[in-house]
Amino acid sequence: MARISEESIAAVRETANMAEVVGQYTDLKQAGGQMMGLCPFHEERSPSFSVEPHDKLYHCFGCGEAGDIFKFVMEKEGLGFTEAVEALADRYGVELQRDEEDPRAEAARQRRQRLQQLLERAAAYYSNYLWESKEAGKAREYLAARGLSEETLKNFGVGFAPSAWDKILVAGQRAGFTVPEMHSVGLVQKSERGGEYDRFRARIMFPIRDPRGRTLGFGGRATREDQKPKYVNTSETDFFHKSEILYGLDRARAAMAKANRAVVVEGYTDVLALHQAGMEGAVGVMGTAITPEQVATLSGTVDEVVLAMDADEAGEEAMLRAQRVAAGRRMRLRVASMPSGVDPAELMAEDDGPERFRGFLQGAAELTDFQVTRVLNRTDVASPVERDRALAEVAPIIAAMEEGASQSELIRKVADRLELEPAMVMGRVIASTPATGGPGASAADPGRAPRRGAPPGRGGYAQGGPGEASQQQAQRPVELTSRERQERALLAMCIALPEPGAEFLEQLGESHLSRSGQAAADFIRAHPEAPAEHIPRENGALAALITELVMMAREQPASKESMELNFLLLDQRRLEEEIAAAGERGDYERRAQLSRERAALVERIAHAQRVAG
Ligand code: GTP
Ligand code: MN
Repeated sequence: MARISEESIAAVRETANMAEVVGQYTDLKQAGGQMMGLCPFHEERSPSFSVEPHDKLYHCFGCGEAGDIFKFVMEKEGLGFTEAVEALADRYGVELQRDEEDPRAEAARQRRQRLQQLLERAAAYYSNYLWESKEAGKAREYLAARGLSEETLKNFGVGFAPSAWDKILVAGQRAGFTVPEMHSVGLVQKSERGGEYDRFRARIMFPIRDPRGRTLGFGGRATREDQKPKYVNTSETDFFHKSEILYGLDRARAAMAKANRAVVVEGYTDVLALHQAGMEGAVGVMGTAITPEQVATLSGTVDEVVLAMDADEAGEEAMLRAQRVAAGRRMRLRVASMPSGVDPAELMAEDDGPERFRGFLQGAAELTDFQVTRVLNRTDVASPVERDRALAEVAPIIAAMEEGASQSELIRKVADRLELEPAMVMGRVIASTPATGGPGASAADPGRAPRRGAPPGRGGYAQGGPGEASQQQAQRPVELTSRERQERALLAMCIALPEPGAEFLEQLGESHLSRSGQAAADFIRAHPEAPAEHIPRENGALAALITELVMMAREQPASKESMELNFLLLDQRRLEEEIAAAGERGDYERRAQLSRERAALVERIAHAQRVAG
């Protein structure tokens, strides 16, 4: 992929409307120069998410998520950096310039673009054919009889593939596409005699799109009973990896982010029917069990996923893998029990269907609980052999959970039902825990920092006195030590007032700063002007810290006097550490000298406190 030029990235940043982009996911209210709202990255009742509309930055005091407009789109829409820039450029009509690149990469990009156009044209063709052709009359009637409105069908771009063998083949060629191109996106396939013909014929067509709404492939449903198979999907192509795709995600993402919950169903029609009934956080897995990749995708947007599908039938192994990824990402995975043999689409067609369905979602059981209960229910506890088998079966399921109260409770329940000692059940669970670092450490899951459970420490400027020095706290994402508060206060002011800032940055040594503070100081030294536009992309922790500092710099008052005070407090901390070290070495002479320095410093601090007010 050709690199987007720095100028273009700056132009997108300049043009995009931060409040509007974030506003899709949470309601924002003006608060001073910033905007505040409920954090779209974690569950909360009072707003700790602030947005800086001018620099286009965000930061949550509650969970520590922070970044610029590109990071926000990457996180919320599951995109890579380039894709996020492209999506914003699309949305705000910015034309992207790309840097020179090697001809092979350029050719690959152009080919990808052409194939994308081909898929979009095919989708438009099928959609037109559904609404315009006489041949599709029966399909229109069928869809209407299932209760799907024209608006819903058009929203999802549903179409119809003609029954002739070569309509797409011919139309595609007329539009200037080659047969191999059509083949490579799965629109045509080879016959036994070597010719190519349309893959989808006489089928209702569901375009399968990526999170940005680009068509990647199709699912085609039979329109006659005798037409087999019931569904034909695009075969795996360079673009189309079914196990990574969630059907309808492009239309569901905003609603699921707002609700902080995704509903996962099996079929295309289930997704459509739920959206039509106002449950727009629904996506489909297209008939398979939910995959680790799909769980990982959803975990970027929501903290809870409810499976409204036949979890009895889904492969147990697949569910375990999904559960491990969910646990590793601190996401709840629940199962809504539906009446057997009824899928959500059928339920939605009934008068009280939506209401009943909401009830099933409400009453959904934790996936692990659901699976364990299922095993226990079919175990004959009178038989020791059966009880052993049940224990062997539930141990890996419980092992996939995160350690904690829910896990202990389930262990007790199993021990109780199987009439075993809890310690023995626990032993089996531990023996079943994956060796590679516990839940969530599977290859499909690169892992991420815990983002919940941290108390809402505030990132405001510190005016704390030296007495706080001893309160070294365990370091969680947003629980700051007093040193960090002081250094952040100073560094933010160095951004707000670059001129005195440069002087203080020069005086700040390694011994004044925490590791993260040193990295931030280095960054500000390197980018004294407009640090907001140079937020590093490779280093997430540093990016979050710089974002926070830039936002503090905008919002909080800065003065040379309070910089001086914060610097002196940091210097005192350095001195205290040196005094302690000298004492430990037994270098009492040095310690005495440092103590005198400290006395002088304390004087200066007292003076600076009076001046800074
Ligand atoms: P309707 O009967 O129209 O409501 O479709 P459905 O989506 O309810 O179908 P069903 O419940 O039978 O299957 C659920 C999902 O599994 C479908 O939406 C498809 O994604 C997938 N599926 C079903 N049958 C087939 C098949 O024969 N081949 C393939 N590849 N996928 C299928
Ligand atoms: Mn169905």
